[in-house]
Amino acid sequence: MLNNTFALKGTFCYSKDSQNLIIRENAYLICNNGISEGIYEELPACFQGIQVIDHTNRLIIPGLIDLHLHAPQYTFRGTGMDLELLDWLNTSAFPEEARYAESDYAQKAYQIFTEDLKQSPTTRACIFATLHTDATMILMNLLEDTGLKTMVGKVNMDRNAPSYLMEQNASTSAAATRQWIDAVSGRHYQNTFPILTPRFIPSCSDELLIFLSEIQQEFHLPVQSHLSENPGEIHWVKELCPDSLFYGDAYDHFGLFGADAPTVMAHCVYSTEEEIHRMKENGVYVAHCPESNENLSSGIAPVKRYLEEGLSVGLGSDVAGGSTENLFRAMAHAIQMSKMRWRLVDQKYPALKSEEAFYMATKGGGSFFGKVGSFEEGYEFDAVVLDDSRLESSRQMSVKDRLERMIYLADEREVKAKYVRGNKII
Ligand code: GUN
Ligand code: FE
Repeated sequence: MLNNTFALKGTFCYSKDSQNLIIRENAYLICNNGISEGIYEELPACFQGIQVIDHTNRLIIPGLIDLHLHAPQYTFRGTGMDLELLDWLNTSAFPEEARYAESDYAQKAYQIFTEDLKQSPTTRACIFATLHTDATMILMNLLEDTGLKTMVGKVNMDRNAPSYLMEQNASTSAAATRQWIDAVSGRHYQNTFPILTPRFIPSCSDELLIFLSEIQQEFHLPVQSHLSENPGEIHWVKELCPDSLFYGDAYDHFGLFGADAPTVMAHCVYSTEEEIHRMKENGVYVAHCPESNENLSSGIAPVKRYLEEGLSVGLGSDVAGGSTENLFRAMAHAIQMSKMRWRLVDQKYPALKSEEAFYMATKGGGSFFGKVGSFEEGYEFDAVVLDDSRLESSRQMSVKDRLERMIYLADEREVKAKYVRGNKII
């Protein structure tokens, strides 16, 4: 047993729940076979002799969880931000995604993306690829080698897209999905898992969604998509699905909205009362993507309300609607946007506190992956060691202050070591 057991020594910060942060200074976190055995002030007698990796004075947090990003869009991050969603898709996202028909391009682009994600504070992510099976496998192979735990989706889209980025019809899209699932099962990945990825309702015919629900039932895959992101998009969905009660109902009609499969929906900026109620009832996860919602002028999601009502909420970078994979930035944007919502839109819900943003980026999103996002006993051992000495200050700071500063100031330069399920990946 002791061969697979070690301890990290340092100052630990993790969430008990959305309101309460736990801080343990200069303590020992024990990892046994990839699972946390809890945090101790002194090394217990039964663990004497195990390797202790000393990070005294460094902050150690659970690995961050990115519930939503687009790997192929990493190439143009930080550019083309002056359009709203539907025009942005046509102008920036679709032409770029079409380039992944070429495997050489995919290999080159995804190599850069996966290396950057590996160096970031993220340990787990739900990732959109493109509709191309070969390029999706290239991405999954590269991600597998990083040691990050990811769910990756070959995207489905069979309508309302340019001909250069659209599957011929529902049957060819379903057949390509089956071929992809088959290729994945042949690879016996340890870290990389398939997730069904209908792009969003405007891109997917009813016939395709029926095929995907059959595939879901056969292979028991989770589901990721977009929901109620932008007013023009929502208006379009109403026209496309006149019989749906609300946007999410159009997914739920086909068993692709939480009740039948673990499901994460990105954005949920304009979810109606009925939609919020259904998400709660069905256990749908919200991937809150605040920076993307700013860049594409989408709006400000009522995340404080979602948290208070007990919905499952995590954070998404939504690269390249969001400019960076650095989830500390997403935490800061979530807090800052919630202040604007409180000031300008709705005084009923106060702004998010740093504890809540930290919770969403760790334990909140982590539960989509199982017992993930905390250092409590029994959780998978995902840990990020942060050295904040680059950000010098003459002030004495509390641990809480140091953690808050990470939210606003940290990036991959602060990441000194990273463990995923007990494996050191950097
Ligand atoms: N809705 C459908 N596709 C996309 C996408 O690529 N990015 C975002 N932000 N929203 C979408
Ligand atoms: Fe997205």
